[in-house]
Amino acid sequence: MNKVSKYLLITLILVFALNNVKAQMQNSQSVDAKITSIIKQLTIEEKISLLHSSGIFSAGGIQRLGIPEMMTDDGPLGVREDVKQGWGSANLTTDSATFFPNGSALAATWNPDLAYRFGHDMGEEARARKKTIMLAPAFNICRTPLCGRTYEYYSEDPFLNARLAVQAVKGIQSQNVAACVKHYAINNQEVERGRVNVEIDERALREIYLPAFKAAITEGNAWSIMSAYNKVLGSYCSENDFLLNQVLKGEWKFKGIVMSDWAGTHSTVDAANHGLDLEMGTNPPYVKNYFADPLIAAVKDGKVSMKVIDDKVYRILWVTYQTSMSGNQSLGKINTPEHSQTAYDIAAESIVLLKNEKQLLPLNIKTIKSIAVIGDNATRTFHLGGFGAGVKARYEITALAGLKNRLGKSVDIRFAQGYSGVIKSMKRNADVEPKADSTLIQQAVAVAKSSEVAILFIGGNRDFESESRDRADLSLPFNEQALVDAVTTVNSNTIVVVVGGAPYDISKIKKNNHTIVWSWYNGSENGNALADMLIGKVNPSGKLPFTFPASLNDSPAHALNAYPGENLQVNYKEGILVGYRWFDTKKIEPLYCFGYGLSYTNFKYTDLSTDKENYKASETITATVIVRNTGKYAGKETVQLYVGKPGSVVERADKELKAFKKIEIASGATSNIVLKVPVKDLAYYDVKTKSWVVEPGQYKLYAGTSSKDITQISSITVN
Ligand code: BGC
Repeated sequence: MNKVSKYLLITLILVFALNNVKAQMQNSQSVDAKITSIIKQLTIEEKISLLHSSGIFSAGGIQRLGIPEMMTDDGPLGVREDVKQGWGSANLTTDSATFFPNGSALAATWNPDLAYRFGHDMGEEARARKKTIMLAPAFNICRTPLCGRTYEYYSEDPFLNARLAVQAVKGIQSQNVAACVKHYAINNQEVERGRVNVEIDERALREIYLPAFKAAITEGNAWSIMSAYNKVLGSYCSENDFLLNQVLKGEWKFKGIVMSDWAGTHSTVDAANHGLDLEMGTNPPYVKNYFADPLIAAVKDGKVSMKVIDDKVYRILWVTYQTSMSGNQSLGKINTPEHSQTAYDIAAESIVLLKNEKQLLPLNIKTIKSIAVIGDNATRTFHLGGFGAGVKARYEITALAGLKNRLGKSVDIRFAQGYSGVIKSMKRNADVEPKADSTLIQQAVAVAKSSEVAILFIGGNRDFESESRDRADLSLPFNEQALVDAVTTVNSNTIVVVVGGAPYDISKIKKNNHTIVWSWYNGSENGNALADMLIGKVNPSGKLPFTFPASLNDSPAHALNAYPGENLQVNYKEGILVGYRWFDTKKIEPLYCFGYGLSYTNFKYTDLSTDKENYKASETITATVIVRNTGKYAGKETVQLYVGKPGSVVERADKELKAFKKIEIASGATSNIVLKVPVKDLAYYDVKTKSWVVEPGQYKLYAGTSSKDITQISSITVN
């Protein structure tokens, strides 16, 4: 065929296909009738062709009926760059995107509105990049602080997790792009993630690990979900009848697509019958996939019924009708100032002030003339790195660039690298330089000595915290402690900024240093937000979304020797006592507790009260607490409400987060904070009756500024 006739043929096919789509969209039939009619027209081969990958990130599509391919892409940091073949970059100049702060940064904002804006803006960018499904948000529970993906995930608390996940999903889907919530379920470690089996009691499963998924489906109405790599209770998540058929599709009435994680499908018949709809992440030839020719054979052999296949096809078409065939997809927008503003706002609200004993912060830039900026993390970017999802950021402001942007003219900024953040191979901690680089430390000491203030930027980086491997321990990498000690000795105005997506052991810094800031892999606007916080243009309001243990062995999974498992079995012996639930109940003092974070101002809590004293199980508790900003700066505070059930008939955590609200209060002003808790949220899951039980009796309500700084206590009775 010559070039011209090839061109004509392609044009004809396109016109035909487009007309077909248009015809389908304009058709006034209900989506259900349209899908049913399409299914009737499909051959078995066509049906099965919808159920597996057609490229590393694509699947499905039936050209003769004008059904477009589904184009997926990672999240959660932003819309990932395009690939050509396999995982290789397509080397385009058109696939840069906004880099949004990592998952635990978003969680540290405790701000569901920001989770919505994150989803909305990433959805717009996904549209501009012609994606149908964003593989985000990711929110597995932080069970061990070592998990390599802690930075991608949100929190150790199911309630905070759920509130953020629901809004992120709604935001993405507001753009007619499907969210794909992941990884369902219990992907809490990367060590042996592809083979390990999790043994867990159903109560812990229901109370800790599933609530955010349930909320994302039933409240957020997520259109797709990704099964995790690991096994749960003996079966791979991608062929787990209990998780997929019984809970997700049965109890939660999930209407969308269950897709496997990449190359995470392990069978044809079991996966098909137990609830998987779409096999993803495979390599060509795709006809060899579990859900390709072998599935056609299984149908012909009567091992998988046509009803099961039709249900999967229905789900895929249904999601296509919500997205690329919805008829109201926008063109999308990418790298806009609004998206940068969202990245900035998340970053600004995520930074956690851990210690400010000397009131050195905010920096008084009217008097300070010289600042030493020290550390590899001051000039390092975080949009890419390690194994797994990153984003080709259009730009990323480093910490040093942010400080120069904000202070450049008035302050002499002197930089020294201090340490090298390069890691030699993608194994666990062992692969960083064993000894500190004394030349780099000497240079750092020299600039620190000659400057009024030294700001150290240390912590992890995206190569060090990575998908597919856990950290070996909590220690700071790259011999950073030696640098901190050396700089602190010569400059009494040293500020330590630790950058990371997961807890680290910073106990020595907590003991020796007066000023400590926690920051994250904080997106395109990282440096600007950080600089604004340091100079007081932003009053810090981030709160830790997980506990920092004083020692790794204080953490439940480690205290009980229940990580990473033996012989590919890991038993979640701590049950429901995950994160602060464990530390509180076992009276173990953490280094920094869940919900902790200081401000440049102070908030005083008084008068916690409830609308009634006695409640029925069907009612909602309305709690009110008065919060006064007693300091001299306006500031944002996250008011946290925990509930405990003393003397319960079952084991309970001392207290559990049941409501929170983030508000801004002007200096000297007072705010009446109203928090609502449906009584049904106080239920525990009874494994014997397989139901949620609201226990009658007295409950305690605790309001405070963190999980340990509780200043207001009240009680109510459930009849
Ligand atoms: C990850 C997923 C990701 C997929 C595609 C897998 O290794 O677990 O989260 O969406 O790769 O990049």
